[in-house]
Amino acid sequence: MKFFNMLIMTAAVLFASDNGYSTKSNWLMDIDSANGRFEAVQKQFRGFDTAMMEVGYRYESVKKAVDEKNYELALYHWQKIKTAMQNGYVRRPAREEASRIYFLDNTYEEFKKMLVSQNDTKIEERFSYVKDSCNACHINQKVGFITVK
Ligand code: HEC
Repeated sequence: MKFFNMLIMTAAVLFASDNGYSTKSNWLMDIDSANGRFEAVQKQFRGFDTAMMEVGYRYESVKKAVDEKNYELALYHWQKIKTAMQNGYVRRPAREEASRIYFLDNTYEEFKKMLVSQNDTKIEERFSYVKDSCNACHINQKVGFITVK
């Protein structure tokens, strides 16, 4: 019985060391041209969608920080929304104009000022309109089914 168990364990170890899902870490260097590697990196960076995933996360974080009246934290996340959106349109230049018109040149700046002012009532009131800018841009960019709440 002991021998039998040993046999199974040995087989399991051997199998695990040579399975199809073992990690291979040189996927980038294994590509044989520099251009091919840059292309692969570019693909991994993705486009506006991953930028928006961060924007969505930061937006929820701002909401929570505003609820808790932690305006320093809210400002921290708010500023990163701008960074994320700008990085997004570096990757997808066709989204730059709408990013500015619907958000960066107005809503972004206005709410930033509110946060700096630390005025509870104004911050709460102005934040309730932020999502309108997000959603207006979504409609303009033909992704109106993505609704920010
Ligand atoms: C350029 C105008 C624009 C503005 C402004 C904008 N969005 Fe978006 N958003 C998009 C586009 C376009 C997509 C779809 C991206 C894609 O599929 O490539 C998107 C997608 C999203 C997604 C889905 C991401 C995913 O794939 O999981 C979320 C969440 C999101 N936006 C949140 C926000 C929030 C919150 C704001 C406001 C703070 C905002 N967006 C402002 C254009 C915008």
